[in-house]
Amino acid sequence: MPLGVLTVYAALAVWGALIVQGFRTRSWRPVLLFGIGLMLFLNLGYVINGVPAAISSFVGIYDVLINIGLDPATDAAAISTCAGNDCTVWTDRYVTHPAWGAAFYDRFTNGPQFRSTLLYGHIVMNSLVFVLMHVQLFRPGFGAARGTHKLLGRISFVFLTLSLICSVWLASEHGSVAEYGGRLAQFGFYSMAACVYACAVMMVVTIRKGDTAKHRVWAFRFIGSMWGAFWLFRVVLFVIDPLLRNVEAAAILIVIWGSAPAGVLIAELIRRRIDDPTRRQASDTVPAE
Ligand code: HEM
Repeated sequence: MPLGVLTVYAALAVWGALIVQGFRTRSWRPVLLFGIGLMLFLNLGYVINGVPAAISSFVGIYDVLINIGLDPATDAAAISTCAGNDCTVWTDRYVTHPAWGAAFYDRFTNGPQFRSTLLYGHIVMNSLVFVLMHVQLFRPGFGAARGTHKLLGRISFVFLTLSLICSVWLASEHGSVAEYGGRLAQFGFYSMAACVYACAVMMVVTIRKGDTAKHRVWAFRFIGSMWGAFWLFRVVLFVIDPLLRNVEAAAILIVIWGSAPAGVLIAELIRRRIDDPTRRQASDTVPAE
């Protein structure tokens, strides 16, 4: 039994329970912190175990659901096998995999070393930005925190820029990867990068104008885009991959194109709820017990 995959399943169950608890208590900090911790656990796997081991572990997470009720003899369009069944941690238990997963493994085990270097750059720098953006959210740049907030903001922007250069470079090779969706995947990843970077640039533009209120609005949108690009992408793919296994590249294309904008939309709705004066007034008038 692959311990890493089982740990992720257990962690997802705990996270689900925290989300339910969040709805009851209206306290979302544990949900955010757990999401950051699990992201770090997954992404550190690339640095500690190397790209091939981390990818086979990642594919192993998706193997379980996509194989439910699947007749191995059928030829589902979004399913494939891989040489020596090396693209998964499940040894012989699952020999069919999401086609994008087998292609993902093949790209980095049989491709040039530079491709893996780009992936490391993308993962390490985006993970750092993911952590830093929450530090910034919880320590806004007022009073004594101003200097640190400004410095961390600049560092994050540089890391984000470098990380997105790596990801756009990787995406520029996707035209020939039919399992991802070819050109549609390539331009989908470009659109994802553009969505995230546009929010980050707007954060910079607004604060340079001294408009802290608008800066905060764009910060919410930026954080939403990053949560979308990372977590919404992976969780939604987990759910729709088995449902769309008969349609080539459909599931992966949906998340490539949809996850970052959906993240922005959700963050915007949350911010409007937080800022809604009628809701605040209502909670202000709740008598203290
Ligand atoms: C900001 C927009 C993003 C874009 C455009 C993007 C793009 C990409 C691309 C093109 C790949 C490689 C696929 C391949 O070439 O075969 C990839 C993989 C990956 N990205 Fe991103 N990504 C984004 C956000 C993020 C974020 C925010 C994180 C981390 C917090 C992240 C972490 C990863 C990881 C870990 C992988 C390897 C697959 C996995 O194990 O999940 N990405 N991304």
